[in-house]
Amino acid sequence: MNAFLIRRNHLRENPKVWLVTGVAGFIGSHLLQWLLENGQSVVGLDNYATGHPKNLAEVRNLVEPMQWKNFLFIEGDICDLQTCKDAVNGVDHVLHQAALGSVPRSLADPINTHNANINGFLNVLVAAQEEGVSSFTYAASSSTYGDHPALPKVEDQIGQPLSPYAVTKLVNEQYAAVFARSYKFNCIGLRYFNVFGPRQDPNGPYAAVIPKWTDAMLADNPVNIYGDGETSRDFCFVANAVQANILAATAEESCKNEVYNVAIGDCTSLIELFNGIASVLAINGIHYKQKPVYNDFRAGDVRHSQADTSKISRCLGYKPSHNIFTGLAVAVPWYMARHSQRLVVAL
Ligand SMILES: NC(=O)c1ccc[n+]([C@@H]2O[C@H](COP(=O)([O-])OP(=O)(O)OC[C@H]3O[C@@H](n4cnc5c(N)ncnc54)[C@H](O)[C@@H]3O)[C@@H](O)[C@H]2O)c1
Repeated sequence: MNAFLIRRNHLRENPKVWLVTGVAGFIGSHLLQWLLENGQSVVGLDNYATGHPKNLAEVRNLVEPMQWKNFLFIEGDICDLQTCKDAVNGVDHVLHQAALGSVPRSLADPINTHNANINGFLNVLVAAQEEGVSSFTYAASSSTYGDHPALPKVEDQIGQPLSPYAVTKLVNEQYAAVFARSYKFNCIGLRYFNVFGPRQDPNGPYAAVIPKWTDAMLADNPVNIYGDGETSRDFCFVANAVQANILAATAEESCKNEVYNVAIGDCTSLIELFNGIASVLAINGIHYKQKPVYNDFRAGDVRHSQADTSKISRCLGYKPSHNIFTGLAVAVPWYMARHSQRLVVAL
């Protein structure tokens, strides 16, 4: 049996209380779903800055009514320390996801990004440390690799940040390291690489590429590629990110005070991604005929990103359940279903 199944079975026999910040967002709502489905109690904190009540409603529909009763939602802002203290009260494990994502958003609005991602992070960290929680796992980011040219990305080789967002995620790691040195409070940072899956928001100027393109193709709108299409990413299906969080939260103390890459270890160019989404749509009966439209490169974007996942595999027993194609095979039909629901509502 792999490490994830062993931890899952142990948690089922020994349920814990978890705080998921950013619970109404994309990754947070998947953590919530997994935890409730596996008999855990969850406190969720979110201010709906970028998350949605409909994500929580979907989880509610997917879990058993008895499981849903184990969820307490607090609508609140991590920038308020007292809210964070109330949220961590009696909690065993913290999975801190709340943040303002997106490199372009941070370039347009560095102050709000700083407030949520640094001040808010520090509030949750202080509250968790004072509460004496058993574990603190936080969403770090591959953007921390910045301008370092090496590929694949290895955890201890980072460059200069290329955006305010990347600065905030780097500062999170530095605060976590200082809390280990100063208070012996050992956290784990998970450097996510382009996580995708159901419930990732396709709307707005800061939407991630997979939901945005899938939605555009479903509406038969043009797909815009920034750059020449050869820019590449290590796209990671959300179930893998959930697995990484559970493994991190239940890790031995010797594995803490570390950061780990969370990805597949693959590199997919944007044009390969475009073709991948189009082929999953075609399998599902939707034939997108348009060619992508090429635009200028976007400020703050790194050219290539590919993770070395050997550290998380070796230390935490991480074994991704999905690659990009098996992930798209789940995500794209979800977007199709949502798209048809929207059309029905619009009629
Ligand atoms: N999705 C990715 O590819 C990716 C990659 C690297 C890092 N991350 C990080 O993972 C985490 C989750 O990202 P996501 O993709 O689920 O984004 P998301 O926007 O769907 O979720 C973030 C959630 O945090 C909430 N939030 C934001 N500011 C808040 C505040 N001040 N107080 C309370 N709640 C607040 C939002 O309302 C939202 O529900 C973030 O920290 C993000 O930076 C994501």
